[in-house]
Amino acid sequence: MKIRKAVIPVAGLGTRFLPASKAIPKEMLTIVDRPTIQYIVEEVVASGIEEIIFITSEGKSAIENHFDYDFELDTILEKKQKSKLCEEMRHISNLIDIVSIRQKKPLGLGHAIWTARNVVGNEPFMVLLGDDLVLNDKPCSLQMLELFEKYGESIIAVQKVPKDQTFQYGIVEGESIEGRVYRVDRMMEKPAPGTTDSDLAIIGRYILQPDIFDLLGRTTPGHGGEIQLTDALLALSKKRTMYAYEFEGTRFDAGDKLGYLKAIVAFALRHPVLADDFRDYIKQVCLEC
Ligand code: UTP
Repeated sequence: MKIRKAVIPVAGLGTRFLPASKAIPKEMLTIVDRPTIQYIVEEVVASGIEEIIFITSEGKSAIENHFDYDFELDTILEKKQKSKLCEEMRHISNLIDIVSIRQKKPLGLGHAIWTARNVVGNEPFMVLLGDDLVLNDKPCSLQMLELFEKYGESIIAVQKVPKDQTFQYGIVEGESIEGRVYRVDRMMEKPAPGTTDSDLAIIGRYILQPDIFDLLGRTTPGHGGEIQLTDALLALSKKRTMYAYEFEGTRFDAGDKLGYLKAIVAFALRHPVLADDFRDYIKQVCLEC
């Protein structure tokens, strides 16, 4: 079955990014010349998905506005004969069909995804976290969609992390079945040091079977009093086969201050116009450090 829909939860409070995220959604903070969320939407479009479902909350309307058509701006840019800019603005508003759903309380990532149940319906779908960036020529979601064509079951993107950092992530234990693919046996949210040998950390890309909605609806609040996606994923992995995929690319947690800075440097070094000058500048800064 073809994956047609992508759910992008952006309803979190962004406390790690305060005070920047007090009045501006962290997903709207700029990486070089566009907001974080635009890279994620462009990844979805480049992967051939047809519709995006944003899970939003109060104070996040800037995200919806960013992808909307702005008649006044369009008219002004046209009058000023700024046709290239005008074209770029139109391109952003024409990228893909977008639906928004309000998560009324920040009850966790699991709850955020559950709110999309009626719009997604009974078909497998993709989830991309609104603050997780993956830099790679072939988009991470496209890599996963191709794998889904072969395996036809839920797939979680994972990356290897240093063993002393596993307590910061959702961790997957499983058996390697081919190259970068594992069959999931067990999963834990932020395991206490010494409770797992696995270094496969879950990152913000998932392909999920719709059975997850029922399981999320029955999941009781876990770590931090939130409905944890990992708890429902574990239940799903007991019901149906689930795979973990070590994706190709570099992942940045742009919802974290240091991760955000790293993302800016990495994306700037690949920018078609700015890369050369920025590289020279970075070299100079390194010499002076
Ligand atoms: P995070 O924990 O990374 O984001 O959630 P957060 O809650 O916004 O940030 P901090 O931890 O307070 O700094 C992962 C993803 O899940 C979404 C977030 O928007 C982010 O994309 N999320 C989280 C929701 O949509 N709703 C929630 O209730 C919680």
